[in-house]
This record gives sequence, structure tokens and C-alpha cells, in this order.
Amino acid sequence: MAIVDEVKDEFCKRFGDKGDIRIYFAPGRVNLIGEHTDYNGGHVFPCALSLGNYAAVRKREDDRVRWFNMTYPDDGVIETSIKGLKPGDNGLWYDYQLGVIWAFGENGHEIPSGFDMVMKADLPAGSGLSASASIEELCAVIIRDLFLPDISPVDCAIMGQYSENRYNGMNCGIMDQFASAMGKKDHAIFLDTATLKYDYVPLNLRNEKIVVINSRVKHSLAGSAYNDRRSESERALKDIQAVKAVETLGDLSTEEFEEVKAAIKDPVCLKRARHAVYENIRTIDAVAALKSGDLESFGKLMNDSHVSLRDDYEVSCKELDILAEEAWKTEGCIGSRMTGGGFGGCTVSIVKKDSLESFEASMKAAYKERTGIDCEIFTADAADGAGRII
Ligand code: GLA
Repeated sequence: MAIVDEVKDEFCKRFGDKGDIRIYFAPGRVNLIGEHTDYNGGHVFPCALSLGNYAAVRKREDDRVRWFNMTYPDDGVIETSIKGLKPGDNGLWYDYQLGVIWAFGENGHEIPSGFDMVMKADLPAGSGLSASASIEELCAVIIRDLFLPDISPVDCAIMGQYSENRYNGMNCGIMDQFASAMGKKDHAIFLDTATLKYDYVPLNLRNEKIVVINSRVKHSLAGSAYNDRRSESERALKDIQAVKAVETLGDLSTEEFEEVKAAIKDPVCLKRARHAVYENIRTIDAVAALKSGDLESFGKLMNDSHVSLRDDYEVSCKELDILAEEAWKTEGCIGSRMTGGGFGGCTVSIVKKDSLESFEASMKAAYKERTGIDCEIFTADAADGAGRII
């Protein structure tokens, strides 16, 4: 049964079939290049996936919300009020929904009543494909559709990031929420995170496919190490600001960075800043290469991105390095890198269509041999952003 029908059926079973039941979808994302640049005022180049979170929803007249998540059936129906929410850190799946409701209120958009909701994901959680941003944008698009039609999809992305930063304590940038809210079929989003100006770039992959490989590992330091990287980048920026007027690391060209880098006192912070600056320029160059049909250069920049994330930003891990290295030497692979925050999760590769089968087979075998783990491989198509389906 299609997930749309599954959530609708489950909704009718749990909450009754009367009234105006609506169905929504919000995608996860894969980032093609531009990693750990979004909180450094740089550029990113993600696309929304056709995988994500679905929900069946009906507005209520009181201030209650009731949730049932088919992905976590043992939790049963969660019921709470939309009033009096406070940031906490209980780490439960519905913190993301509560956080978004809270974020709208904090930003002066009072939500008049609650809703009932049944949801289900076809995106693996914890795989670095932004399952959490997909839940946030699902919730934001529901609130927008039911109560706040004047809110824009970009506002929904901002609310999602605000909630994740301040309700869930994860200091993420805006990339994931923006990709989930604003995705466009067959396009990636070239987003300048300093201004939120964006451009949809057609992927035009006639003879190639985007291949996502899930390492099926998630190292536990991911959350705290992410926040550490962010503060190390900020320290580097402060040192640079003592010698040059810039607002973010994304303002610097590589030449300018080389001129001022001696001002950065801590060698670790220097490495973090070097990644942020060079990755931003790589992203700009990669988009230019793609637009001119030079996929070879795009792939090479993806590979360089991985090396920089591994050596300078130090957010890769053994498993992701193995996946990237194996992909680089496998026939038909144009480029490959870790994608997302790191410390596990997925790689993204561009692979020639006529080598897909052999690529998948040799990646599976090599990864199993070197790690003992069965990786999960799928091809991805760029999809539309969050919205109401029915
Ligand atoms: C996570 C964050 C994003 C971004 C990436 C790294 O996915 O949520 O904001 O910083 O890591 O590029």
C-alpha cells in the first residue's frame, strides 16, 4: 500500500474518518556540495529527495495535539497541549513537532488550535538525510496550510531552523530545512546562506544518476562535535575580524584567506576556517561547472570536498572514508563525498548510468569486506519541497 493510503487508513482507525482529513509530505535532502558552510555564511547546493515524512492531519477546535507515528508504533498516541511549551531536552521524536509549534509562537505567529496527526517516514532516521528537518518542515507546512496562509515556505524553513537551534539545542544552519521546504523536482538549490538568495539549477543528468550510500553507522559524538565545529569556526572568524572587516568566513576568497590566516591563533580553528572558506569557493565553482555541462570538474570538486571534510574539518569517519575511497576507484564514478553533518550517515556519488549495476555490486562487496557492514544503496532524484498532497 502507498504510504499516503497507509497514513490515511491509520488516521481513520485512530482518530475517526469524519471531517476534513488532509495529507502532507515533507522530503529529506541530500547535499551535493557545500558542507558545513551554511552557518559560516557560505553557499550550499542540496536537493530535496523523494523520500521523507508523510502525515494525515485534521484540525481540532481545542488546544490539544494528538500524534501517532507509524515509525515508532510502540510509543502509542502522544497527546499534549500547544500552550505553555518550553524547550527541553528529552530527545523524543515529537520534540521536533513541539519545537516548531513553539517556534511559530515565539516569532509572533500564534497558532489558534491543535490538530490530530498520523505520520510515517520512508526515509531512514539517523542516516544524515535530514529526517529531523523533514519532520520540522512537515509540521511547518501543516501549520501554514491549516492556520497561517500568509507564511511563506522560506519562513517555514526559518521556523524549522529556529526550533532546532532553540528548542532542540542543535546549532544547525538553514540548509536542511531550506531544502525540505523549497526543493524543486529535477533541480538542486544553490543557496547563499548569508542572504538566503537562491537559484534553482537544473541537474540535467542525462547519462548519470545520484547514488546515495548509507554507511549504516552513526557515531554518538555527532551532536556535540557539530556544535564544537561551529564554535571553532566562530573563533577563527573573530581572530580574522581583528585584522580584516568581514562578517562571515563566506565573505573571503581563498586568496584573502591566505593573506589573513596567520591571525588565527589556534591551529585547529585555522583548519576549520580553511575548510569553510575553500568549501564555499568549491561550491560556487562546482555550480558554475555544472551549469556549463562540465560534470568532470563537478565530480573532482566533490572529491576535494570529502578530503577537506576528512582532514581539515574532521567530521568524516572510517566508514565514510572507505565508501568515498572505494567509489573514487570504481568505474563509472564521477565524484563522491560524505554528505550532511558527518560522523556516519551517507555518501553521495554521481555515477554513470551504464555503470550503475557494477558500481553498486562492487561498493557493497568492498564495504562489507573492509567493515563487516552491509551498506544500503539507492539512487535519488531531486524532488519538490514540502506541501499538501491531498
Ligand atoms: C547538518 C546541519 C546543516 C549543515 C550540515 C553540514 O545537516 O543540519 O545545517 O550544517 O550538517 O553541512
